[in-house]
Amino acid sequence: MSAFHYRNGVLYAEEVPLPEIAGRFGTPCFVYSRAALTAAYRAFDGALAGHPHLVCYAVKANSNLAVLDLFARLGSGFDIVSGGELKRVLAAGGNPRRVVFSGVGKSEAEIREALALGVLCFNVESESELHRLNRIAGASGARAPVSLRVNPDVDPKTHPYIATGLKENKFGVPFADALPLYREAHRLPHLDVVGIDCHIGSQLTELEPFVEAARKVLDLTDRLASEGIHLAHIDLGGGLGIRYRDEQPPPVEEYGRALTRLMHGRPELLLLEPGRALVGNAGILLTRVEYLKHGETKNFAVVDAAMNDLMRPSLYDAYHDVLPVVLDTALKPSLYDVVGPVCESGDFLARNRELRVTEGDLLAIGSAGAYGMSMSSNYNTRPRAAELMVDCDRVHVIRERETIEQLIALEKRLPA
Ligand code: LLP
Repeated sequence: MSAFHYRNGVLYAEEVPLPEIAGRFGTPCFVYSRAALTAAYRAFDGALAGHPHLVCYAVKANSNLAVLDLFARLGSGFDIVSGGELKRVLAAGGNPRRVVFSGVGKSEAEIREALALGVLCFNVESESELHRLNRIAGASGARAPVSLRVNPDVDPKTHPYIATGLKENKFGVPFADALPLYREAHRLPHLDVVGIDCHIGSQLTELEPFVEAARKVLDLTDRLASEGIHLAHIDLGGGLGIRYRDEQPPPVEEYGRALTRLMHGRPELLLLEPGRALVGNAGILLTRVEYLKHGETKNFAVVDAAMNDLMRPSLYDAYHDVLPVVLDTALKPSLYDVVGPVCESGDFLARNRELRVTEGDLLAIGSAGAYGMSMSSNYNTRPRAAELMVDCDRVHVIRERETIEQLIALEKRLPA
């Protein structure tokens, strides 16, 4: 049974009816299922059982401490892209030795901090970064473990904003430059060349681009070995898609089988950096209909969640399911745009959905566990939503709803 399911016409998160959650904690709020998160992690980890591996959960997808804590307890490592994410991993009890540090713009301070904590690897994205890392490591009498993030120029066939492995993207080093850069890294005195990395994009729904990128990375690894540069791990990034609507991403077992087969007989540890696949379908955004508004050409359901809470529909025109929390078949269905209170025409969560709703009803926006809260903002001075984790029949508040006082606390008026 899915973690979010109907029982007698009422939507539940595990054993808790969502109307009870709305009553106790208010709306909008993100509701995550511990069982769903655990199941997703175990399925992913299990799918890689054929080869020694480390799952490094991509913190950016959902960086709540409770989520990180749960994954750390399940044995996960972490993929981070900032000093802030590193602090979160530590605060959640994660082990820095299981952390890979990605990102094109690592600052000196971030590098120093990560080096001092002994992260597993820096996924280096440029020649300049290689030199910065070497210099900082030298100054602190340390050796920095590095991978080069190579850009394999593979079309991931996803939304252009979340494709990262094409020539025109800012990520990684061009494939053709990788070999000379590896030689250079190998020569630099304060670096340990330990791995290779790629990440070609997000929400991939086909296996082929993963395999194509992996083949290129493995070929390069062999080439390096022939020059005496032996790598300890191969990091194939994240990107496995989920089902939002009718997408058919490869099942995680198939994905795992394809990658472990490619790794068969190889000495290197396999690393992956899944984000969305572990958290996306383990969360919903619970919201209440404030007003129904019948325009000349459209009907609007104005809800209390908005683009500042879930930016994906506005930013990528992404589809998220809209589920009535209480099924009421007595109501007449109509087509609605589900919109928020923010003053932007782009503030919608869903468009042209047939819904049976009335004012005051609760709606659940599906697949909101990934890139929901982590991309939220305070636009229109809207406090961020609360986050809750359901565990069987219990509900844990894992982030309080923000207050306006907190929002303005860092601001100052001009001197008199
Ligand atoms: N590793 C690296 C280096 C990444 O840049 C990303 C995501 C991941 C791993 C995790 O990818 P995933 O497994 O979640 O696909 N905000 C967008 C997604 C941006 C993804 C950015 N990088 C969205 O809401 O669809």
